[in-house]
Amino acid sequence: MNNIVTDRLIIIKFNEADWKDIYEYLSNETVVKYEPYNVYTESEARKEAINRAKSEFFYAVCLKEVDKLIGNLYLAKGDFSTWEIGYVFNLNYWGKGYATESVKALINKAFSQLDARRIVAMCNPLNEHSWKLLERIGMRREGTLLKNIYFKKDINGEPLWADTYEYGILKSEWITND
Ligand SMILES: CC(C)(COP(=O)(O)OP(=O)(O)OC[C@H]1O[C@@H](n2cnc3c(N)ncnc32)[C@H](O)[C@@H]1OP(=O)(O)O)[C@@H](O)C(=O)NCCC(=O)NCCS
Repeated sequence: MNNIVTDRLIIIKFNEADWKDIYEYLSNETVVKYEPYNVYTESEARKEAINRAKSEFFYAVCLKEVDKLIGNLYLAKGDFSTWEIGYVFNLNYWGKGYATESVKALINKAFSQLDARRIVAMCNPLNEHSWKLLERIGMRREGTLLKNIYFKKDINGEPLWADTYEYGILKSEWITND
């Protein structure tokens, strides 16, 4: 995929040198709270940068003006021309609309150039920042799954079962929303 340029951002493939910025946000407890992993160590961040540089699913989101990597997007093709999106941003850059701006641009790209028919996203109902973003861009909450998944365990090694909101939007709806 070619780079995407928005008003304030550039969405671009990762490279191995990005590990410091990855470490900066994935070493933060608040950022990884609802993610299927724990905080990253420096060496895990180095490996992650190598993996992301090779991955076709991960994109770095950088500020255009100052060339700073502030988060990542995820976009993966599933069955029936349905693509799933995900996003994780550096806490220092929350609350400024950067995630919204980048997710909208990536969905535009998926519908206009990648032949996506439907885009979906999943999040924990407790992750209000995430589902508010999805609703801000016009995605529809299509279901709530109860205690369907766990990413973390309690101190006794028991799964911490979590609920899931499922969001979706069709290409036809996105055009009328745009
Ligand atoms: C999910 C996540 C990316 C959302 O971040 P966010 O900062 O809430 O989203 P945005 O960057 O789009 O900012 C939106 C906020 O900025 C405000 N804002 C300011 N300027 C804005 C602009 N130009 N455009 C849109 N919103 C703007 C909005 O009003 C909104 O504020 P609110 O939270 O008070 O409603 C972030 O919380 C995160 O990285 N979480 C950790 C990882 C995670 O949980 N990922 C999702 C897993 S499902």
